[in-house]
Amino acid sequence: LAGTTQLLLSRIRDVPDYPEPGVMFKDITPLLADPEAFAALTEALADLAVRHGATKIVGLEARGFILGAPVALRAGLGFIPVRKAGKLPGATLSQSYDLEYGSAEIEVHAEDLAADDRVLVVDDVLATGGTAEASLRLIRRAGAQVAGVAVLMELGFLGGRGKLETALEGAPLEALLTV
Ligand code: PRP
Ligand code: MG
Repeated sequence: LAGTTQLLLSRIRDVPDYPEPGVMFKDITPLLADPEAFAALTEALADLAVRHGATKIVGLEARGFILGAPVALRAGLGFIPVRKAGKLPGATLSQSYDLEYGSAEIEVHAEDLAADDRVLVVDDVLATGGTAEASLRLIRRAGAQVAGVAVLMELGFLGGRGKLETALEGAPLEALLTV
């Protein structure tokens, strides 16, 4: 496991002053381009899905799609996209949430989640926790249960874990790396 952590860390590129001055962007494209690292990440997240008894994987657009879809296949579970507003054709549930400046809105197809589903949310980064928290609200409003939230990276200094605590209702937040 220590080897996996090292491998994952070594494939994340720090990009200073992106998308704006003073921000250190965590670029996962080198990890995605390395099949050994991408496979190790997929395996680690799929293990968490099994360990926490998930029956569905929710991926958060866009980077959560890249990570969540192979995890769902590896764990033998269905993949449900949570999309930015206006992209899903069917009957949706919508949830808005605050950003540093302004707000955003995400949606899910209501019929994709049922009362007997236990959902693991997968994303690349937990920053302020706003996106993940909104996704948990969607899952609960759809009537499903939350198996947990699993991310590649938690930006500990932004306090997202604390913001998510209430919405998790005791379900786990798993971060493979904390930076
Ligand atoms: C990024 C990241 C997470 C989210 C974390 O997504 O991929 O989904 O921000 O931030 P938060 O914890 O403060 O909500 P973003 O929507 O910026 O871009 P993406 O479409 O490339 O995933
Ligand atoms: Mg994202």
